[in-house]
Amino acid sequence: MLTVKSVIAAQEIIKTWHLAHESIAFVPTMGNLHEGHLQLVKVAKTTAARVVVSIFVNPTQFGAGEDFENYPRTEQQDQEKLAEMDVDLVFLPSASEIYSSNAQTIVSVTGISEQYCGASRPGHFNGVATVVCKLFNIIQPTIALFGLKDFQQFFIIQRLVSDLNMPIQLIGVDTVRESSGLALSSRNAYLSAEEKNSAPLLYQALKTAQAAIFANSASYTDIEQHTLRFLQEAGFNPDYFAICRSHDLQRATQDDSELVLLIAARLGKTRLIDNLRFTKPTKLS
Ligand code: PAF
Repeated sequence: MLTVKSVIAAQEIIKTWHLAHESIAFVPTMGNLHEGHLQLVKVAKTTAARVVVSIFVNPTQFGAGEDFENYPRTEQQDQEKLAEMDVDLVFLPSASEIYSSNAQTIVSVTGISEQYCGASRPGHFNGVATVVCKLFNIIQPTIALFGLKDFQQFFIIQRLVSDLNMPIQLIGVDTVRESSGLALSSRNAYLSAEEKNSAPLLYQALKTAQAAIFANSASYTDIEQHTLRFLQEAGFNPDYFAICRSHDLQRATQDDSELVLLIAARLGKTRLIDNLRFTKPTKLS
């Protein structure tokens, strides 16, 4: 496994692979790798001749007062895990390697980037879209893989790739969960022991809302309000809960069948997100 820190060094290696007509699967990460990331790498290895993983805690996707400074950085352990999985290349740039001081370009997928997580984290998805676009230009992958825990992020990257005619196939990989149902996330490390016990209630709230949708017993507005109340009573500070159509992330009506439930809530100082995608069975007449 090779590790490089400069854009030029990464591009030189990648050029030789392109000349040899080798396909490249790319897994962008912010490091602190857990089983969810390793699952992305596992799938990546089945899709292409070469696998590249980037580790870059992207400053532009963190807002003022967010956890950029404290975000867990475990580069040594991350590289050991990736070496064990026989990844071909780790790209580990510094912030100044990615962002020149006179940069003036921001990539923005408008509209959807201001909703849900974007509403409470202004500018977050512009930071994500900009860095992903830059990383795609550097690595020039055939395939790129993202975790579906960040469902809105994946949706935005799909739009970006389609709108900018990037010849990249995107693969969304299912969320890896603890046996409690809690979705794996680097931010789970911030939870106290007590918070760790209540954190799985976020996924439970999604499952309960799904059951209510299947039972057709309440309006979607009522289900949304009930879910937010449930979280508040369980000690969360909910950010949003939305019943959406999975193909465009707009609010679903009772007639829509392809749904995704999007949720975000704070538990103590930790902001957790999750989602549940499913098909609502059509009513038999
Ligand atoms: O999902 C993440 O870890 C980040 O948002 C990403 C896609 C690596 C961009 O910094």
